[in-house]
Amino acid sequence: MKTQRLVTFLAAAMLNLVTMQVNAQEAHPVWAYPMNPPDFKAASEDASIRRVPASAAGYTLTQTRDRFAATDWHPGDHPPMPEVVARGRKPDVFACGWCHRADGSGGPENANLMGLPYAYFVQQMKDFRSGDRKTSIAKRAPTALMIAGSKTISDADIDEAARYFSSLKPRSNQRVVETPLVAKTTVEGWVLVDTGTGEKEPIGQRIIEVPEKPADFESRDSRARFIVYAPPGSVSRGMELVRTGAEGAQRALCHLPWARVEGDRHHSADRGSITELSCAPDP
Ligand code: HEC
Repeated sequence: MKTQRLVTFLAAAMLNLVTMQVNAQEAHPVWAYPMNPPDFKAASEDASIRRVPASAAGYTLTQTRDRFAATDWHPGDHPPMPEVVARGRKPDVFACGWCHRADGSGGPENANLMGLPYAYFVQQMKDFRSGDRKTSIAKRAPTALMIAGSKTISDADIDEAARYFSSLKPRSNQRVVETPLVAKTTVEGWVLVDTGTGEKEPIGQRIIEVPEKPADFESRDSRARFIVYAPPGSVSRGMELVRTGAEGAQRALCHLPWARVEGDRHHSADRGSITELSCAPDP
């Protein structure tokens, strides 16, 4: 009887665990993967010409939303874009630069591609295409569209895009601010945006990334910058984890494909708050 009860208890506990895991997957952290609210309506075209600081270019809202044309606010910031980056390939492959910006600097809704190693870049494209790299939040449009585009892109275009983005010098467009309180945010265009009401809330265990100037972000300005709010002590705790290692964290980081080796120092291309790590040789 005792054994039976124990088995029942264990089974119930395991079921609980499974349910908890499923729920945890369903309720993904919205601060990390913000979803547009169901009633979200993107701003409508008013035919005005949009401008951003230090650029002679001008685009209407409709032009900035053209999936087959990367907005190119600062042509002097990068070499000429290959066709697939500037205009994509109709009908399925959208211009890489439309999402990732002309110089690959990216934003919180996608990824910074500047200076990614060529081999790593090509592998990611092939993994998206084969389904080896996928998303657990299929309803998030930016990733869903990235994956859709990878299905029909040619190897020649992957090669050209990889050569272009890997040739660019990595640059950060983020500023980290540690704070116990953070401005209340809403979701616009798949990113968190400060409500501007001045209201604050505890940051808890979240990282809240917002555009410094939402209008420049909306115009897809490649020089738009982002503030990354993090709980107090996050950066030093992260650095400590990298330096001292915890459960193989340091070794794992040293072996990430984008870690660059210069002498015995590895530099990571501005991925999150990790900027430089010293890696011990393998035993
Ligand atoms: C609709 C927007 C969109 C377009 C267009 C787009 N991407 Fe992406 N891309 C994304 C998103 C979102 C991610 C991050 C996916 C994730 O979370 O795993 C991404 C990730 C990537 C990565 C992986 C980066 C990393 O650090 O691992 C590569 C490489 C990449 N894109 C290349 C391209 C290329 C090449 C093109 C053009 C053919 C392109 N993308 C077009 C949205 C886009």
